[in-house]
Amino acid sequence: MNKVVILNHPLIDHKMAKIRDKRTGTKEFRESVSEVGGLITYEITRDFKTKPKTIETPICEMIVHELEKQVVIVPILRAGLGMVDGIHNIIPTAKIGHIGLYRDEETLQPQVYYSKFPKDIKDSVVLVVDPMLATAGSACKAIDILKEHGATDIRYVGLVGCPEGIDRLQKEHPNVSIYLAALDTHLDENGYIVPGLGDCGDRLFGTK
Ligand code: PRP
Ligand code: URA
Repeated sequence: MNKVVILNHPLIDHKMAKIRDKRTGTKEFRESVSEVGGLITYEITRDFKTKPKTIETPICEMIVHELEKQVVIVPILRAGLGMVDGIHNIIPTAKIGHIGLYRDEETLQPQVYYSKFPKDIKDSVVLVVDPMLATAGSACKAIDILKEHGATDIRYVGLVGCPEGIDRLQKEHPNVSIYLAALDTHLDENGYIVPGLGDCGDRLFGTK
């Protein structure tokens, strides 16, 4: 069964307070989303495997440890883009794929319009990035697509989730671990997370 990790950390809570506040403007919202992306990355990577390598320090030879697998960050467009820089700052060797999809406002079903991945995705650890885990329709569809392309080691990374989204993602993709900055109470009748932070894509890109 997949692991569900809710990051209980004072720094993340502090930044989430800014992100959730409706008075926070686009610039500060975007910066805070990216920063939480970076902070979450320490927890996501905690159990990454490393491989030994011999190097020479200025003093002597020693065995050091490097990440064993290539990391691929795959944001779900648009809102996932907001977390990419923060994660990439921590793992600068990561490659970046993209999945373009949006949630139909009436049916809440994911509509796919784009995907592009690096060639070695099969052997990589893939971080699917999307700030909002609401119905989980978007996350499940993105992971379906990644699996069709051969990815096997996949982790979901988001800001805010709800029990409905976690249940569905666990059922449809039991081998995908879930990392969230916060777990909220429920979805409203329009499929928005409560208390949530509103429409993340609109707040990141000022399109409201
Ligand atoms: C938002 C969000 C997720 C999706 C979550 O994207 O970024 O992708 O909704 O909802 P779900 O769990 O019910 O699928 P949106 O469709 O608003 O597109 P955008 O990122 O282009 O704004
Ligand atoms: N997408 C968002 O941007 N916010 C929500 O609360 C749910 C889906």
